[in-house]
Amino acid sequence: MHPLDPLGREELDRAVQIIRDQMNLPPDALFEQVRLKEPCKSAVNAFNSGNPSDITREAFAVVLDRSADEVCEIVVSLDENKITSRELIPGVRISFLSEESAEFRKIICEHPDFLAALERRGISDPEQVLVEGFAVANLAESDEKHLRHTRAHCFFREHPEDNAYARPIEGLVPVVDLNNRKVLRIEDNGVVPLPPDRGDYRSDRLDTRPPLAPLEITQPDGPDFRVNGYAVEWLNWRFHVGFTPKEGLVLHTLSFHDGEIDRPVVYRASLSELVVPYGDTAGDHYMNHSFDLGETIFGKQVNSLKLGCDCLGEIYYFDFDQVDELGNPLDLSQIVCMHEEDYGVLWKHTDAHTQRSEVRRSRRLVVSSFFTIGNYDYGIFWYLYLDGTIEFEAKLTGTLYLRAITEGEPTPYGSLVAPGVNGMVHEHYFNIRLDMSVDGDANTVVEMQADRVPSGPDNPHGNAHGVSESVITSESEGARNAAPKDSRFWKIENRSRSNRLGWHPAYKLMPGPNVAPMHQPGSPFMRRAGFVEHDLWVTAYDPDELHAPGQYVNQSECGPGLPQWIEKDRNLVDADVVLWHTVGVLHLPRPEDFPVMPVEYTGFMLKPFGFFERNPAIDLAPPLCRKP
Ligand code: NI
Repeated sequence: MHPLDPLGREELDRAVQIIRDQMNLPPDALFEQVRLKEPCKSAVNAFNSGNPSDITREAFAVVLDRSADEVCEIVVSLDENKITSRELIPGVRISFLSEESAEFRKIICEHPDFLAALERRGISDPEQVLVEGFAVANLAESDEKHLRHTRAHCFFREHPEDNAYARPIEGLVPVVDLNNRKVLRIEDNGVVPLPPDRGDYRSDRLDTRPPLAPLEITQPDGPDFRVNGYAVEWLNWRFHVGFTPKEGLVLHTLSFHDGEIDRPVVYRASLSELVVPYGDTAGDHYMNHSFDLGETIFGKQVNSLKLGCDCLGEIYYFDFDQVDELGNPLDLSQIVCMHEEDYGVLWKHTDAHTQRSEVRRSRRLVVSSFFTIGNYDYGIFWYLYLDGTIEFEAKLTGTLYLRAITEGEPTPYGSLVAPGVNGMVHEHYFNIRLDMSVDGDANTVVEMQADRVPSGPDNPHGNAHGVSESVITSESEGARNAAPKDSRFWKIENRSRSNRLGWHPAYKLMPGPNVAPMHQPGSPFMRRAGFVEHDLWVTAYDPDELHAPGQYVNQSECGPGLPQWIEKDRNLVDADVVLWHTVGVLHLPRPEDFPVMPVEYTGFMLKPFGFFERNPAIDLAPPLCRKP
């Protein structure tokens, strides 16, 4: 067993039972999450370097006693079968859990005001209504802020197979106290006609084209990776696959085998938060900004993947055991997919004098999961390449979140994507936490950018330009922005080592396209999501800082989070540093995004920068060329 192996079924069941027995919880207490409490870095690093000490197994759980309105963080020793730590966390609210939606849907659908509101819209059967809980953010009524509650939005489905989100029942907002399980009120802000288009996308409801020509990806000798539990070896790469209820897919201890040794690069790579703020002002849509980790517990919304559909080729699937809201086993399998992909040419040169071509093909290892958060679906993809590159990519698909409008109504903060529906403008901000360990934990981040030299005695021909470097010395300098026209990037280097060229081994974080905040400074959203203000944050390592806007986001007013943490101004030179990269997409919906949007991509790369002394893929065997 590896110290980072996830809790198995028996360990999860035992942890839940110990918590139930020793805390005397009511049967309807909610388990927001139960997961491995990861051992400290030194224990993991000792294990990976072949000097394992005893592996301790501990579970971490967050539990809500709804009747007492108490949130408790609990650590269970699975070696000693006892609770070793329990801490009440005052003033916080756990995520909204999917099991609660069945509960509140029932009480909403029995409420006379709700039935009357449906009647005003010509809907007689509440079974045709999808009720979807939305977070109230920091915009609750002042006398309700203390209540853990939801404002639901409603959608009309004539048949159960209809697209659930194509026909919003605009203006109808049931407000429900989640802990006490009662309707606070049914808001009705006036009838807007139901959009006419059902937005069908299922193959059994559409005339589909003939199937595409078969495209088989086979590896007759099997793939190049080896899996031992959750530990993976793929060519030079070594890492450990993890999965948590909140973050979803996590990669641990990424290292590159170079010569005789494994050289660490990243200790832990994870999604820290995903938030989707909207720009429409109509009705209560100004409140829409969903934190998909902090409010919806992202990892539990993972899909079971299917061979040939989600993943093509020689696939290895990882299973992870999880528990549901009541601590019972969650039945999910094949939630992380791993395979190799051909990725075109990696390097090539044709000697024009001899006409000899040397070509090597690029291949990448793909580790991925898909998550469904209400209307949206997200793919979280990590790619490892033969030349030492690491890539993060998010895939955005699913159905739009729409507002029904009357005919001819202007849509300044959105676009007409189908008759009677406004595709409201919004952003998707991903924050990715990178606990770096380039050749060890003591790393330094250096901001690098193009340096233009003014014409003059130092630059008589006007061509001189180089690169300027500035060390990010402490957290007060830790909030950085991209500058694509200056080719700005960040180098994470280990200054205790040098290679024969004098380079300190380093990786560089290369930002991709991005978007600055669209909400105004000091606005309700920006008070909670300060992490979107900057493209990169650098902090000193703290194992409890895992989420850019803090651990408990549901109904939070503001912080804590990255803007607050960097006020500590901890040292970042030759330190255990963590990088937090915010990657945003502005989404002005198109008609082509209806009824389901084709995948949009966003992400970034980490590339070796003086980590190797030459192209680390120079020694690849040439591919077998076939005669034409
Ligand atoms: Ni979008």
